[in-house]
Amino acid sequence: MRNGDGEKEDEMKILIVGSGGREHAIAASAAKSPKVEKIYCAPGNAGIAMIAECVAIGAMEFDKLLSFAKEKQVDFTIIGMDDPLVGGVVDAFEAQGLKVFGPRKNAAILEGSKAFSKDLMKKYGIPTAAYETFDDPQKALAYLEMAKMPIVLKADGLALGKGVLICQNLEEAKAGVKEIMEDKKFGSAGNHMVVEEFMTGREVSVLSFVDGKTIRVMSSAQDHKRAKDKDQGLNTGGMGTFSPSPFYTKEVDQFCKKYIYQATVDAMAAEGRPFVGIIFFGLMLTEDGPKVLEYNARFGDPEAQVVLPRMKNDMVEVMEACVEGRLDEIDLQFEDNAAVCVVLASEGYPVSYEKGFEIKGMERFETEEGYYCFHAGTAFKDGRIVTNGGRVLGITAKGADLKEARANAYQAAEWVEFDNKYMRHDIGKAIDEA
Ligand code: AMP
Ligand code: GLY
Repeated sequence: MRNGDGEKEDEMKILIVGSGGREHAIAASAAKSPKVEKIYCAPGNAGIAMIAECVAIGAMEFDKLLSFAKEKQVDFTIIGMDDPLVGGVVDAFEAQGLKVFGPRKNAAILEGSKAFSKDLMKKYGIPTAAYETFDDPQKALAYLEMAKMPIVLKADGLALGKGVLICQNLEEAKAGVKEIMEDKKFGSAGNHMVVEEFMTGREVSVLSFVDGKTIRVMSSAQDHKRAKDKDQGLNTGGMGTFSPSPFYTKEVDQFCKKYIYQATVDAMAAEGRPFVGIIFFGLMLTEDGPKVLEYNARFGDPEAQVVLPRMKNDMVEVMEACVEGRLDEIDLQFEDNAAVCVVLASEGYPVSYEKGFEIKGMERFETEEGYYCFHAGTAFKDGRIVTNGGRVLGITAKGADLKEARANAYQAAEWVEFDNKYMRHDIGKAIDEA
Protein backbone atom coordinates (compact mmCIF):
# COMPACT_ATOMS: atom_id res chain seq x y z
CA MET A 1 0.00 0.00 0.00
CA ARG A 2 2.66 2.54 0.95
CA ASN A 3 5.23 2.32 -1.75
CA GLY A 4 7.50 4.89 -0.22
CA ASP A 5 7.85 7.23 -3.19
CA GLY A 6 4.63 9.13 -2.52
CA GLU A 7 3.27 7.74 -5.75
CA LYS A 8 -0.17 6.50 -6.03
CA GLU A 9 -0.94 3.38 -4.17
CA ASP A 10 -4.38 4.72 -3.77
CA GLU A 11 -6.43 1.86 -4.93
CA MET A 12 -7.17 0.02 -1.80
CA LYS A 13 -10.05 -2.32 -1.45
CA ILE A 14 -11.38 -2.32 2.10
CA LEU A 15 -13.62 -4.80 3.86
CA ILE A 16 -15.46 -3.70 7.00
CA VAL A 17 -16.96 -6.35 9.28
CA GLY A 18 -20.12 -5.39 11.18
CA SER A 19 -23.58 -3.96 10.62
CA GLY A 20 -24.30 -1.13 13.04
CA GLY A 21 -24.06 2.63 13.28
CA ARG A 22 -20.43 2.24 14.31
CA GLU A 23 -19.59 0.39 11.10
CA HIS A 24 -21.47 3.04 9.09
CA ALA A 25 -19.29 5.71 10.74
CA ILE A 26 -16.17 3.63 9.99
CA ALA A 27 -17.28 3.19 6.38
CA ALA A 28 -17.96 6.94 6.03
CA SER A 29 -14.44 7.71 7.27
CA ALA A 30 -12.92 5.10 4.96
CA ALA A 31 -14.85 6.61 2.05
CA LYS A 32 -13.16 9.97 2.70
CA SER A 33 -9.70 8.44 2.36
CA PRO A 34 -8.00 9.23 -0.96
CA LYS A 35 -6.30 5.82 -0.70
CA VAL A 36 -9.55 3.90 -0.88
CA GLU A 37 -11.06 2.81 -4.16
CA LYS A 38 -13.71 0.35 -3.07
CA ILE A 39 -15.42 -0.57 0.21
CA TYR A 40 -17.14 -3.84 1.00
CA CYS A 41 -19.08 -4.43 4.20
CA ALA A 42 -20.14 -7.75 5.72
CA PRO A 43 -23.01 -7.84 6.40
CA GLY A 44 -23.64 -4.04 6.50
CA ASN A 45 -27.03 -2.34 6.45
CA ALA A 46 -29.17 -0.14 4.18
CA GLY A 47 -27.19 3.03 4.95
CA ILE A 48 -23.78 1.44 4.56
CA ALA A 49 -25.02 0.17 1.18
CA MET A 50 -25.00 3.77 -0.08
CA ILE A 51 -21.21 3.97 0.21
CA ALA A 52 -20.14 0.32 0.21
CA GLU A 53 -21.04 -2.95 -1.43
CA CYS A 54 -22.71 -5.03 1.27
CA VAL A 55 -22.26 -8.78 1.21
CA ALA A 56 -24.46 -11.24 3.07
CA ILE A 57 -21.77 -12.78 5.25
CA GLY A 58 -22.17 -12.78 9.02
CA ALA A 59 -19.43 -11.37 11.24
CA MET A 60 -18.79 -14.81 12.76
CA GLU A 61 -18.52 -16.66 9.44
CA PHE A 62 -14.73 -16.53 9.35
CA ASP A 63 -14.24 -18.99 6.49
CA LYS A 64 -16.62 -17.08 4.27
CA LEU A 65 -15.04 -13.76 5.20
CA LEU A 66 -11.61 -15.15 4.33
CA SER A 67 -12.73 -16.57 0.99
CA PHE A 68 -14.43 -13.31 0.13
CA ALA A 69 -11.37 -11.22 1.04
CA LYS A 70 -9.16 -13.44 -1.11
CA GLU A 71 -11.53 -13.60 -4.06
CA LYS A 72 -11.99 -9.82 -4.17
CA GLN A 73 -8.33 -9.15 -3.42
CA VAL A 74 -9.21 -7.03 -0.42
CA ASP A 75 -6.15 -5.07 0.73
CA PHE A 76 -7.24 -4.25 4.24
CA THR A 77 -9.99 -5.55 6.53
CA ILE A 78 -11.33 -3.54 9.47
CA ILE A 79 -13.16 -5.43 12.20
CA GLY A 80 -15.80 -3.23 13.87
CA MET A 81 -17.42 -5.65 16.30
CA ASP A 82 -16.30 -7.35 19.49
CA ASP A 83 -17.58 -10.90 18.92
CA PRO A 84 -15.39 -11.76 15.93
CA LEU A 85 -12.35 -10.13 17.59
CA VAL A 86 -12.77 -12.16 20.77
CA GLY A 87 -13.37 -15.22 18.59
CA GLY A 88 -10.02 -14.81 16.80
CA VAL A 89 -10.95 -13.38 13.40
CA VAL A 90 -7.71 -11.39 13.24
CA ASP A 91 -5.62 -14.52 13.79
CA ALA A 92 -7.57 -16.23 11.00
CA PHE A 93 -6.87 -13.39 8.56
CA GLU A 94 -3.22 -13.13 9.52
CA ALA A 95 -2.74 -16.87 9.11
CA GLN A 96 -3.69 -16.40 5.45
CA GLY A 97 -1.34 -13.46 5.04
CA LEU A 98 -4.19 -10.96 4.89
CA LYS A 99 -3.83 -7.47 6.32
CA VAL A 100 -6.37 -6.80 9.05
CA PHE A 101 -7.03 -4.13 11.69
CA GLY A 102 -7.92 -5.28 15.18
CA PRO A 103 -6.42 -7.14 18.14
CA ARG A 104 -5.57 -10.83 17.96
CA LYS A 105 -7.55 -13.20 20.11
CA ASN A 106 -4.94 -13.18 22.87
CA ALA A 107 -5.26 -9.36 23.11
CA ALA A 108 -9.02 -9.03 22.51
CA ILE A 109 -9.38 -10.84 25.83
CA LEU A 110 -8.95 -7.36 27.31
CA GLU A 111 -12.65 -6.97 26.45
CA GLY A 112 -13.55 -10.66 26.32
CA SER A 113 -12.85 -11.41 29.96
CA LYS A 114 -13.53 -9.00 32.78
CA ALA A 115 -11.59 -11.25 35.17
CA PHE A 116 -8.56 -11.00 32.86
CA SER A 117 -8.76 -7.23 32.61
CA LYS A 118 -9.25 -6.78 36.35
CA ASP A 119 -6.29 -9.04 37.14
CA LEU A 120 -4.17 -7.16 34.60
CA MET A 121 -5.03 -3.81 36.19
CA LYS A 122 -4.27 -5.14 39.65
CA LYS A 123 -0.94 -6.64 38.58
CA TYR A 124 0.21 -3.45 36.87
CA GLY A 125 -1.27 -0.93 39.32
CA ILE A 126 -3.77 0.59 36.91
CA PRO A 127 -6.52 2.39 38.87
CA THR A 128 -9.83 0.50 38.91
CA ALA A 129 -12.54 -0.53 41.39
CA ALA A 130 -11.58 -3.09 44.06
CA TYR A 131 -12.89 -6.57 43.16
CA GLU A 132 -12.94 -10.31 43.74
CA THR A 133 -13.54 -13.05 41.19
CA PHE A 134 -15.56 -16.21 41.79
CA ASP A 135 -16.32 -19.42 39.95
CA ASP A 136 -18.31 -20.93 42.81
CA PRO A 137 -21.70 -19.32 43.57
CA GLN A 138 -21.54 -20.41 47.24
CA LYS A 139 -18.27 -18.59 47.76
CA ALA A 140 -19.67 -15.53 46.00
CA LEU A 141 -22.70 -15.56 48.33
CA ALA A 142 -20.53 -15.91 51.42
CA TYR A 143 -18.46 -12.92 50.27
CA LEU A 144 -21.56 -10.83 49.56
CA GLU A 145 -22.92 -11.42 53.09
CA MET A 146 -20.00 -9.35 54.39
CA ALA A 147 -19.72 -6.83 51.54
CA LYS A 148 -20.64 -3.15 51.51
CA MET A 149 -23.72 -2.24 49.42
CA PRO A 150 -24.41 -1.18 46.74
CA ILE A 151 -22.19 -3.63 44.91
CA VAL A 152 -21.60 -4.52 41.26
CA LEU A 153 -21.78 -8.03 39.77
CA LYS A 154 -20.30 -8.69 36.34
CA ALA A 155 -20.52 -11.83 34.23
CA ASP A 156 -16.96 -12.54 33.11
CA GLY A 157 -17.37 -12.90 29.34
CA LEU A 158 -19.03 -10.97 26.52
CA ALA A 159 -22.68 -10.43 27.35
CA LEU A 160 -23.65 -7.78 24.80
CA GLY A 161 -23.00 -5.08 27.36
CA LYS A 162 -25.74 -6.44 29.57
CA GLY A 163 -23.84 -8.67 32.00
CA VAL A 164 -23.47 -5.97 34.66
CA LEU A 165 -25.82 -5.82 37.66
CA ILE A 166 -25.77 -3.00 40.18
CA CYS A 167 -27.24 -4.33 43.41
CA GLN A 168 -28.52 -1.99 46.09
CA ASN A 169 -28.76 -4.56 48.90
CA LEU A 170 -27.94 -8.14 49.82
CA GLU A 171 -31.23 -9.46 48.52
CA GLU A 172 -30.61 -8.04 45.05
CA ALA A 173 -27.04 -9.32 45.15
CA LYS A 174 -28.21 -12.85 45.98
CA ALA A 175 -30.72 -12.71 43.13
CA GLY A 176 -27.92 -11.47 40.87
CA VAL A 177 -25.65 -14.40 41.71
CA LYS A 178 -28.50 -16.74 40.84
CA GLU A 179 -29.16 -14.94 37.54
CA ILE A 180 -25.52 -14.86 36.45
CA MET A 181 -24.02 -18.07 37.86
CA GLU A 182 -26.93 -20.48 38.27
CA ASP A 183 -29.62 -19.54 35.74
CA LYS A 184 -26.84 -18.52 33.29
CA LYS A 185 -28.87 -15.61 32.02
CA PHE A 186 -25.79 -14.40 30.13
CA GLY A 187 -24.80 -17.89 29.01
CA SER A 188 -21.31 -19.19 29.65
CA ALA A 189 -20.21 -15.59 30.40
CA GLY A 190 -21.58 -16.42 33.85
CA ASN A 191 -19.23 -19.32 34.62
CA HIS A 192 -17.01 -16.77 36.29
CA MET A 193 -18.17 -13.63 37.99
CA VAL A 194 -16.45 -10.46 39.10
CA VAL A 195 -17.79 -8.72 42.21
CA GLU A 196 -16.76 -5.11 42.21
CA GLU A 197 -16.86 -2.09 44.49
CA PHE A 198 -19.59 0.38 43.46
CA MET A 199 -18.12 3.67 42.31
CA THR A 200 -19.77 7.02 41.65
CA GLY A 201 -18.77 9.79 39.29
CA ARG A 202 -19.01 10.99 35.71
CA GLU A 203 -18.39 8.41 33.00
CA VAL A 204 -16.18 9.25 30.04
CA SER A 205 -15.34 7.12 27.01
CA VAL A 206 -11.85 7.52 25.58
CA LEU A 207 -11.03 5.69 22.36
CA SER A 208 -7.46 5.19 21.22
CA PHE A 209 -5.39 3.74 18.39
CA VAL A 210 -2.70 1.30 19.49
CA ASP A 211 0.10 -0.41 17.52
CA GLY A 212 1.37 -2.80 20.17
CA LYS A 213 3.66 -0.25 21.83
CA THR A 214 2.50 3.28 20.99
CA ILE A 215 -0.92 4.70 21.86
CA ARG A 216 -2.65 7.75 20.37
CA VAL A 217 -5.73 8.88 22.22
CA MET A 218 -8.75 10.30 20.40
CA SER A 219 -11.00 13.12 21.55
CA SER A 220 -13.18 12.12 24.55
CA ALA A 221 -16.88 11.27 24.39
CA GLN A 222 -19.77 10.38 26.65
CA ASP A 223 -22.58 7.91 26.13
CA HIS A 224 -26.13 8.00 27.53
CA LYS A 225 -26.99 4.37 28.21
CA ARG A 226 -30.44 4.52 29.79
CA ALA A 227 -33.53 4.39 27.59
CA LYS A 228 -35.33 7.42 29.02
CA ASP A 229 -34.69 11.07 29.76
CA LYS A 230 -32.86 11.95 32.98
CA ASP A 231 -31.15 8.56 32.91
CA GLN A 232 -34.33 6.66 33.73
CA GLY A 233 -35.44 3.34 32.27
CA LEU A 234 -33.48 0.31 31.22
CA ASN A 235 -29.89 0.10 30.06
CA THR A 236 -29.51 0.12 26.27
CA GLY A 237 -26.67 -0.12 23.79
CA GLY A 238 -26.54 3.70 23.97
CA MET A 239 -29.18 6.35 23.20
CA GLY A 240 -26.79 9.10 22.20
CA THR A 241 -23.33 10.53 22.65
CA PHE A 242 -21.42 13.77 22.63
CA SER A 243 -17.79 14.66 22.05
CA PRO A 244 -15.69 16.11 23.58
CA SER A 245 -16.67 15.65 27.22
CA PRO A 246 -16.27 18.91 29.18
CA PHE A 247 -15.52 16.79 32.25
CA TYR A 248 -12.44 15.35 30.58
CA THR A 249 -10.19 18.20 31.69
CA LYS A 250 -6.46 18.66 31.11
CA GLU A 251 -5.80 17.34 34.61
CA VAL A 252 -7.83 14.21 33.95
CA ASP A 253 -6.03 13.73 30.64
CA GLN A 254 -2.63 14.10 32.31
CA PHE A 255 -3.54 11.61 35.02
CA CYS A 256 -4.81 9.05 32.52
CA LYS A 257 -1.76 9.48 30.31
CA LYS A 258 0.47 8.87 33.30
CA TYR A 259 -1.33 5.99 34.99
CA ILE A 260 -3.77 4.37 32.57
CA TYR A 261 -3.21 4.58 28.81
CA GLN A 262 0.44 3.71 28.21
CA ALA A 263 0.38 1.52 31.32
CA THR A 264 -2.31 -0.64 29.73
CA VAL A 265 -0.45 -0.95 26.43
CA ASP A 266 2.80 -1.78 28.23
CA ALA A 267 1.03 -4.32 30.46
CA MET A 268 -0.41 -6.14 27.46
CA ALA A 269 2.98 -6.21 25.75
CA ALA A 270 4.65 -7.46 28.94
CA GLU A 271 2.09 -10.28 29.11
CA GLY A 272 3.05 -11.38 25.59
CA ARG A 273 -0.27 -10.09 24.25
CA PRO A 274 0.67 -6.98 22.26
CA PHE A 275 -2.50 -5.04 21.51
CA VAL A 276 -3.00 -3.69 17.98
CA GLY A 277 -6.27 -1.94 17.22
CA ILE A 278 -8.66 0.23 19.21
CA ILE A 279 -8.65 0.31 22.99
CA PHE A 280 -11.79 1.91 24.36
CA PHE A 281 -11.27 3.05 27.94
CA GLY A 282 -14.53 3.27 29.88
CA LEU A 283 -13.51 5.63 32.68
CA MET A 284 -15.23 6.87 35.80
CA LEU A 285 -14.09 10.18 37.22
CA THR A 286 -14.36 9.39 40.94
CA GLU A 287 -13.49 11.53 43.95
CA ASP A 288 -10.25 9.58 44.17
CA GLY A 289 -9.37 10.30 40.55
CA PRO A 290 -10.12 8.58 37.24
CA LYS A 291 -10.56 4.80 37.34
CA VAL A 292 -11.11 2.20 34.62
CA LEU A 293 -14.66 0.80 34.56
CA GLU A 294 -14.01 -1.44 31.59
CA TYR A 295 -11.96 -1.92 28.47
CA ASN A 296 -13.37 -2.61 25.03
CA ALA A 297 -11.29 -3.79 22.10
CA ARG A 298 -13.13 -1.80 19.40
CA PHE A 299 -14.77 1.55 18.72
CA GLY A 300 -17.80 2.41 20.85
CA ASP A 301 -21.25 2.48 19.35
CA PRO A 302 -22.45 5.29 19.29
CA GLU A 303 -19.14 6.87 20.41
CA ALA A 304 -17.62 6.32 16.95
CA GLN A 305 -20.47 8.36 15.48
CA VAL A 306 -19.29 11.53 17.28
CA VAL A 307 -15.53 10.94 17.42
CA LEU A 308 -14.73 9.85 13.84
CA PRO A 309 -16.51 12.77 12.11
CA ARG A 310 -14.28 15.14 14.13
CA MET A 311 -11.02 13.39 13.25
CA LYS A 312 -8.83 15.27 10.78
CA ASN A 313 -6.52 12.37 9.91
CA ASP A 314 -7.12 9.82 7.20
CA MET A 315 -8.51 6.97 9.33
CA VAL A 316 -7.23 4.27 7.00
CA GLU A 317 -3.72 5.70 7.13
CA VAL A 318 -3.80 5.67 10.95
CA MET A 319 -5.05 2.09 11.00
CA GLU A 320 -2.32 1.00 8.59
CA ALA A 321 0.25 2.68 10.82
CA CYS A 322 -1.10 0.61 13.73
CA VAL A 323 -0.81 -2.66 11.84
CA GLU A 324 2.69 -1.75 10.62
CA GLY A 325 3.88 -0.73 14.10
CA ARG A 326 4.66 2.87 13.22
CA LEU A 327 1.92 4.77 15.01
CA ASP A 328 4.66 6.95 16.53
CA GLU A 329 4.82 8.68 13.12
CA ILE A 330 1.20 9.79 13.37
CA ASP A 331 0.04 13.07 14.85
CA LEU A 332 -3.62 12.51 15.64
CA GLN A 333 -5.71 15.67 15.21
CA PHE A 334 -9.30 16.57 15.91
CA GLU A 335 -11.39 19.52 14.82
CA ASP A 336 -11.79 22.21 17.46
CA ASN A 337 -15.56 21.81 17.61
CA ALA A 338 -18.12 19.41 19.06
CA ALA A 339 -20.51 16.73 17.86
CA VAL A 340 -23.70 15.24 19.27
CA CYS A 341 -25.36 11.99 18.15
CA VAL A 342 -29.03 11.42 18.94
CA VAL A 343 -30.21 7.84 18.46
CA LEU A 344 -33.61 7.45 16.81
CA ALA A 345 -34.99 4.20 18.18
CA SER A 346 -38.16 2.18 17.82
CA GLU A 347 -40.68 2.86 20.60
CA GLY A 348 -40.39 0.02 23.10
CA TYR A 349 -36.62 -0.52 22.72
CA PRO A 350 -34.83 -2.24 24.47
CA VAL A 351 -37.66 -4.64 25.37
CA SER A 352 -39.97 -5.19 22.41
CA TYR A 353 -40.79 -3.12 19.36
CA GLU A 354 -42.23 -3.36 15.89
CA LYS A 355 -40.12 -3.27 12.73
CA GLY A 356 -40.67 -2.76 9.02
CA PHE A 357 -41.81 0.90 8.97
CA GLU A 358 -40.69 3.05 6.06
CA ILE A 359 -38.13 5.75 6.91
CA LYS A 360 -38.51 9.07 5.11
CA GLY A 361 -36.55 12.30 4.92
CA MET A 362 -33.00 11.02 4.91
CA GLU A 363 -32.00 12.61 1.55
CA ARG A 364 -31.36 15.93 3.25
CA PHE A 365 -28.25 14.56 4.96
CA GLU A 366 -26.59 14.05 1.59
CA THR A 367 -26.35 17.80 0.99
CA GLU A 368 -25.97 19.30 4.47
CA GLU A 369 -22.36 19.68 5.54
CA GLY A 370 -21.65 18.61 9.13
CA TYR A 371 -24.78 16.45 9.46
CA TYR A 372 -24.76 12.66 9.35
CA CYS A 373 -27.45 10.01 9.32
CA PHE A 374 -25.76 6.79 10.47
CA HIS A 375 -27.84 3.67 10.02
CA ALA A 376 -28.01 1.04 12.76
CA GLY A 377 -31.16 -1.09 12.38
CA THR A 378 -32.37 -0.51 8.82
CA ALA A 379 -33.09 -2.74 5.84
CA PHE A 380 -34.33 -2.58 2.28
CA LYS A 381 -37.85 -3.77 1.60
CA ASP A 382 -39.49 -3.43 -1.82
CA GLY A 383 -37.08 -0.68 -2.81
CA ARG A 384 -37.66 1.30 0.38
CA ILE A 385 -35.63 1.71 3.52
CA VAL A 386 -37.46 0.42 6.58
CA THR A 387 -36.83 0.12 10.32
CA ASN A 388 -35.22 -3.18 11.24
CA GLY A 389 -34.05 -2.90 14.83
CA GLY A 390 -34.31 -1.22 18.21
CA ARG A 391 -31.76 1.43 17.46
CA VAL A 392 -32.63 2.58 13.94
CA LEU A 393 -30.52 5.64 13.14
CA GLY A 394 -27.88 7.80 14.77
CA ILE A 395 -28.27 11.46 13.85
CA THR A 396 -24.97 13.28 14.31
CA ALA A 397 -24.39 16.99 13.93
CA LYS A 398 -21.39 19.16 14.53
CA GLY A 399 -21.37 22.65 16.00
CA ALA A 400 -18.89 25.23 17.22
CA ASP A 401 -19.51 23.97 20.76
CA LEU A 402 -21.61 21.29 22.43
CA LYS A 403 -24.62 23.53 22.82
CA GLU A 404 -24.71 24.34 19.13
CA ALA A 405 -24.00 20.73 18.14
CA ARG A 406 -26.86 19.57 20.32
CA ALA A 407 -29.30 22.12 18.85
CA ASN A 408 -28.22 21.06 15.34
CA ALA A 409 -28.57 17.34 16.09
CA TYR A 410 -32.07 17.75 17.52
CA GLN A 411 -33.10 19.88 14.56
CA ALA A 412 -31.82 17.22 12.15
CA ALA A 413 -33.56 14.49 14.15
CA GLU A 414 -36.81 16.11 12.99
CA TRP A 415 -35.94 15.75 9.30
CA VAL A 416 -36.47 12.01 9.54
CA GLU A 417 -39.85 10.35 9.95
CA PHE A 418 -40.93 6.79 10.68
CA ASP A 419 -43.72 5.22 12.71
CA ASN A 420 -42.92 4.63 16.39
CA LYS A 421 -39.89 6.91 16.27
CA TYR A 422 -38.48 7.41 19.76
CA MET A 423 -35.56 9.44 21.09
CA ARG A 424 -34.25 10.90 24.31
CA HIS A 425 -34.48 14.67 24.49
CA ASP A 426 -31.57 15.32 26.82
CA ILE A 427 -28.54 13.94 24.99
CA GLY A 428 -25.61 16.13 25.94
CA LYS A 429 -27.75 18.11 28.34
CA ALA A 430 -25.63 17.55 31.43
CA ILE A 431 -23.05 19.64 29.63
CA ASP A 432 -24.93 22.80 30.60
CA GLU A 433 -23.88 22.17 34.17
CA ALA A 434 -20.23 21.88 33.27
P1 AMP B 1 -19.30 -2.07 32.00
O1 AMP B 1 -19.87 -2.94 30.92
O2 AMP B 1 -18.32 -2.75 32.89
O3 AMP B 1 -18.86 -0.71 31.54
O4 AMP B 1 -20.56 -1.69 32.88
C1 AMP B 1 -21.69 -1.07 32.31
C2 AMP B 1 -22.11 0.12 33.14
O5 AMP B 1 -22.33 -0.28 34.49
C3 AMP B 1 -21.03 1.18 33.21
O6 AMP B 1 -21.08 2.03 32.12
C4 AMP B 1 -21.40 1.86 34.50
O7 AMP B 1 -22.46 2.77 34.31
C5 AMP B 1 -21.90 0.74 35.36
N1 AMP B 1 -20.80 0.22 36.21
C6 AMP B 1 -19.93 -0.76 35.90
N2 AMP B 1 -19.05 -0.97 36.89
C7 AMP B 1 -19.37 -0.10 37.86
C8 AMP B 1 -18.85 0.17 39.16
N3 AMP B 1 -17.81 -0.51 39.65
N4 AMP B 1 -19.43 1.14 39.89
C9 AMP B 1 -20.50 1.83 39.40
N5 AMP B 1 -21.05 1.61 38.20
C10 AMP B 1 -20.50 0.67 37.43
N1 GLY C 1 -21.44 2.70 23.75
C1 GLY C 1 -20.81 1.73 24.55
C2 GLY C 1 -20.17 0.64 23.82
O1 GLY C 1 -20.01 0.66 22.62
O2 GLY C 1 -19.78 -0.33 24.46
